[in-house]
Amino acid sequence: MKLVASDILLVWITLGAVYSFEYGEYERQPIFLTASVGGWVLLSCDIDFPETMPIPFKLYWNKNERTIFTYYKGVITSNEPYVGRLNLVDPPQPRYDTITVNLTSIRESDDGWFQCKVTFPNRTPNTMNRNGTWFHVSVNGGNLLEVPPINQTIMEGEEARLTCLPKDNAMKVIWYKDAVAVKDYQEMTHRTWTEEDGTLVIKPTQMEDNGEYECEVIHESGERQAARAFLDVQFKAKVLYAPPEIHLPFGRAAIIDCHFKANPPLTNLNWEKDGFLYDPYNIPGVFYKKNGSLLISKVDESHNGRYTCTPFNKLGTQGPSPPMNVVVQKPPVFVASPNNMYIRKLGEPIEIPCDARDGNNGHRPTVVWYKKDGTSLPMGRYEIKDGNLSIYNVQEEDRGLYVCSVTNKASTITAETELLVENIPSSAPYNLTGITSSHSVYLKWWAGRQRVNVNYSIWYKPVESKEWKTYYVPRSSYLDATIENLDPGREYEFMVLCRDERGEGLFSKAIKLWTKKSDGREFSITTMDSFMPPVGFPRNVTVTPTYKGFQVSWLPPEYGLENLKFYVVRCTQGVEDYPLVSHETRNISHLISDLPEGNQYGIQIIAVSYDDQQAISEKVSIKIPEYRKVQAISTGMIAGLALLVILFSAIYYVKSRWWRQKEKQAMYEKNGTSPKF
Ligand SMILES: *[C@@H]1O[C@H](CO)[C@@H](O)[C@H](O)[C@H]1NC(C)=O
Ligand SMILES: *[C@@H]1O[C@H](CO)[C@@H](O)[C@H](O)[C@H]1NC(C)=O
Ligand SMILES: *[C@@H]1O[C@H](CO)[C@@H](O)[C@H](O)[C@H]1NC(C)=O
Ligand SMILES: *[C@@H]1O[C@H](CO)[C@@H](O)[C@H](O)[C@H]1NC(C)=O
Ligand SMILES: *[C@@H]1O[C@H](CO)[C@@H](O)[C@H](O)[C@H]1NC(C)=O
Ligand SMILES: *[C@@H]1O[C@H](CO)[C@@H](O)[C@H](O)[C@H]1NC(C)=O
Ligand SMILES: *[C@@H]1O[C@H](CO)[C@@H](O)[C@H](O)[C@H]1NC(C)=O
Ligand SMILES: *[C@@H]1O[C@H](CO)[C@@H](O)[C@H](O)[C@H]1NC(C)=O
Ligand SMILES: *[C@@H]1O[C@H](CO)[C@@H](O)[C@H](O)[C@H]1NC(C)=O
Repeated sequence: MKLVASDILLVWITLGAVYSFEYGEYERQPIFLTASVGGWVLLSCDIDFPETMPIPFKLYWNKNERTIFTYYKGVITSNEPYVGRLNLVDPPQPRYDTITVNLTSIRESDDGWFQCKVTFPNRTPNTMNRNGTWFHVSVNGGNLLEVPPINQTIMEGEEARLTCLPKDNAMKVIWYKDAVAVKDYQEMTHRTWTEEDGTLVIKPTQMEDNGEYECEVIHESGERQAARAFLDVQFKAKVLYAPPEIHLPFGRAAIIDCHFKANPPLTNLNWEKDGFLYDPYNIPGVFYKKNGSLLISKVDESHNGRYTCTPFNKLGTQGPSPPMNVVVQKPPVFVASPNNMYIRKLGEPIEIPCDARDGNNGHRPTVVWYKKDGTSLPMGRYEIKDGNLSIYNVQEEDRGLYVCSVTNKASTITAETELLVENIPSSAPYNLTGITSSHSVYLKWWAGRQRVNVNYSIWYKPVESKEWKTYYVPRSSYLDATIENLDPGREYEFMVLCRDERGEGLFSKAIKLWTKKSDGREFSITTMDSFMPPVGFPRNVTVTPTYKGFQVSWLPPEYGLENLKFYVVRCTQGVEDYPLVSHETRNISHLISDLPEGNQYGIQIIAVSYDDQQAISEKVSIKIPEYRKVQAISTGMIAGLALLVILFSAIYYVKSRWWRQKEKQAMYEKNGTSPKF
């Protein structure tokens, strides 16, 4: 044995002498590095190519005279305890003559000498540097941890074991997943435990277990040390859910999504329509999106049908989706839409038309008006009738962009208009009202912008007649007048004309009134300025998160319940977006589900009367935190929900206070009186 060893030594020395002579072998200085448990360190080894020509080489890493890692022509081998812990990396400036490995998940036993050797197979001499390059790694710092966890890849359903061995088992080990304590994941508790030696066991694994795990070792002195590793849970591509019915807008572009999950990533995705392969490559106007969704550039009736999708990855598929019934729907169309702009003077009324028909059945869909800046329509001063928006007694804060939007199952169409409010009140008389008896009417009106020396006259006629009669108002009575000699039980139209010294005149809006029948029974008194919608607005809108979604509840309007056709629950994302949800119900609550996470939503309830007038509640804003963040704040479902409820209530409170404040201000500015609610 001794003899053999010395023989080899002799041969080496001889060869060494030859090489030293031929290539000028030199002794490399060892390289000293430090690292801490759980950390990583880069080991860069120079390859001394003969004649500086890159040729095939074999790389060896040795530790304690044992080969722990080899690399040859792209093939890596490694030995325990280094399997998966030594990885080739490309340094920032790759060089042909340097090869770098990243030693990761460093543990205590890594302390010591590492040797890197390069040989050139099938070549004589087969090495340039017999003794290789030596590295000394000192493992130090917070040494509570002996063996940190390492990255693992497993199949869903298998058992996962993540090591975390503290130096002595008096120390406490806590596991985190994606920075949240593992014990706080409700859905993991019944299949996860920590063994005595600190090992985290997950059995069986599920696809959601994918993530970064961190183990933290805590000494009783309070000293802590942590190490991290990734758990990669792989599974055959699977469909997560498929909506049973999808409505696509006729004539527009649309996407049919396949909601799948795949790890490793998707390699292929097949669509079937009515039982036959539906290959976008063979169908004009239909394309694959990168994520497998179907893009239809222009929807028509040929796209009606039952679709299924089947996703595949390297491991295969868990089968096709349930069928999705695609129904092509024509979008609503406007039959009357607003002008681009309207100008009104303070105090004047305005009516903005907007009317639409459903593209499929010609029914009149619900028209919703809102202000683009997210503020409410002026409560108590507006009404919406057959889609037309009327605002009475226009105030300065009414200026802005108004959006009329119409939604059916396929899509939403909107029209925008701008209202400008001139700061000067109109000089025309306004708010003309009247009380009739059988032969006369008593009229009252309000003066427009204050002007001196004006004369008023009343213009009136039976509705069906074309000829106006006039009545000059004596100056003594100023803002009221009684017109006599009318026929009983007849409808008349009245206007007030205000004329100044220069003869310039302005009419008030006309009103129609019925005189009473001669028996004294009252005919309906209508005044243009009675702006009570037949149904009041829904009150106290609250949004409560539940495990099924968001429960929106409200109180019925204060009056007009007998005129209520239904409520529309409207949910928009942000302030300007199209409604995501527009749902008709007669209940006083509605569950909204499937709202994408991480966004802000506005929810409003609209009371619609039988004659399609509407009264809109104030808007409640909710922000849906991302699922992960929800998990982070909830140590249990109950605690999480409680927190969310508080969050929503707070938002609601702020919002409703803000609205009231604004309303109050408006009232004060207008007439200096205290607001009544
Ligand atoms: C190899 O290199 C190491 C570190 O430089 C040195 O300690 C050792 O003596 C060398 N061995 C031989 C046989 O030259
Ligand atoms: C070495 O590996 C660790 C752990 O995976 C990683 O965080 C680090 O970025 C790697 N270093 C380099 C230079 O690639
Ligand atoms: C562990 O996995 C992560 C994520 O895939 C990767 O960034 C990291 O480099 C891996 N670490 C090791 C030691 O392989
Ligand atoms: C697929 O990608 C399209 C856009 O390219 C996107 O609109 C759609 O929501 C995506 N679908 C899914 C399921 O992620
Ligand atoms: C709505 O406005 C249009 C156009 O101004 C008008 O013809 C229609 O009569 C209005 N409808 C109602 C109910 O006022
Ligand atoms: C209209 O007139 C009535 C009575 O004449 C009055 O009570 C009401 O406040 C007036 N409305 C406006 C907006 O000026
Ligand atoms: C108002 O009417 C009176 C009597 O008819 C007339 O004398 C006066 O000039 C008129 N004033 C104006 C401003 O028209
Ligand atoms: C509705 O809201 C108002 C004001 O926020 C409050 O005073 C009232 O008590 C609420 N009503 C109910 C039944 O919750
Ligand atoms: C009203 O609510 C009840 C339960 O809250 C539900 O079963 C019912 O389907 C709802 N009705 C409508 C028309 O939404």
